Amino acid sequence: MPNLLIRHIKTLVQAETRPRPIAAGADMAELPVLHDAWLLLENDRIAAFGPMSNCPERADKTIDATGRLVLPSWCDSHTHIVFAATREEEFVGRIRGLSYEEIARNGGGILNSAQRLQQTPEEKLFEDAWQRLQEVIRFGTGAIEIKSGYGLSVESELKILRVIRRLKSVSPIPIKATFLGAHAIPTDFKHRRQEYVDLVVQQMIPRVAEEGLADYCDVFCDRGFFTVEETERILQAGWAHGLKPKIHANELDFSGGVQVGVANRAVSVDHLEHAGDAEIEALRAGHTLPTLLPGCSFFLGIPYAPARRLIDAGLPVVLATDYNPGSSPSGRMAFVVSLACIKMKMLPEEAINAATLNGSRAIELQDEYGSIAVGKKANLFITKPLASVAQLPYSFGNDPVETVVLNGRVWEG
Ligand code: NIG
Ligand code: FE
Repeated sequence: MPNLLIRHIKTLVQAETRPRPIAAGADMAELPVLHDAWLLLENDRIAAFGPMSNCPERADKTIDATGRLVLPSWCDSHTHIVFAATREEEFVGRIRGLSYEEIARNGGGILNSAQRLQQTPEEKLFEDAWQRLQEVIRFGTGAIEIKSGYGLSVESELKILRVIRRLKSVSPIPIKATFLGAHAIPTDFKHRRQEYVDLVVQQMIPRVAEEGLADYCDVFCDRGFFTVEETERILQAGWAHGLKPKIHANELDFSGGVQVGVANRAVSVDHLEHAGDAEIEALRAGHTLPTLLPGCSFFLGIPYAPARRLIDAGLPVVLATDYNPGSSPSGRMAFVVSLACIKMKMLPEEAINAATLNGSRAIELQDEYGSIAVGKKANLFITKPLASVAQLPYSFGNDPVETVVLNGRVWEG
């Protein structure tokens, strides 16, 4: 495979000479950059980089990146891109005054998506999810996590996870799969919730593990969804079958989700729109990453997570899209980075660290993705002309991506 040289890069962003496993606290504001740089890719890997004063003279293929930035691909560590239908009728209902929780209590929300998914053939689910995956790759995502959770029955949860497995087989980017059988209590189990938890623990988790369909186990631990006790039981069953926890916590209330996630050694606890001193203390005492999803706050009009407080407490914040039909119907990481700066007062450097390096750590791919470092996979993007790193989040809603490079080659889509 030929090598590829990118020359005259205005700023090579997240270029690490000493790769860091993560950026936490004050270090989140440290974003290593190299101005007027070159980057050499060999096969599917990053081979070398440096200042233009010592640029290699020859390469099989060269790209001129004058006036442009080069960034490692975004790592989107929290999505639900396998779903049957969009939910714009609920969006209009919310404009008219209903809340997300009221819609859910009336059988809309996740239950609406589950009903639609159960009626949709696997082939159609795959085709639609594959389109969404290609869409987010065009937006600069180069590693992704995808959850089940719109099945809510043994067969339908397995159906989604098999779709994810099929996506893995065609995807140019790595995919991590998460089992989210405990996303909502299905209508049939409304008055027998304990039996649904039994079903998740006794049937779904063993089947998912047996077929090797998931890397992680998720629970929506929040008001009106799953309790702390139910969450703990499910996470422990997951661990017993080799599935690490990675959970939804504290979106709707101070649910205890952060604490139960940390206590059960979750890789990450995601959402955290309701997080205060107790949650921050729990996170500081453990190794669980706080993942923030500002697209959800923006779309639902709920509070933003306290990113500043988490960073100032020394924690490594992660950013992800939560791409799903109910609370965040967008997979555009650049917009999430803008929201993090505009609404959560993260510095551009902090937001980019959260969306690249820390995102890779949240799906345990930090050895291969998340930064421009020699030996890592060559997944990156070249921006349109930009004056500075800060101009990327500043130009909110714009698509900064001009050229996507995956596995060392320009991705034509
Ligand atoms: O991360 N909060 C729980 N799950 C998703 C939304 C699911 C839906 O509304 O379809 C989320 O926001
Ligand atoms: Fe989610």
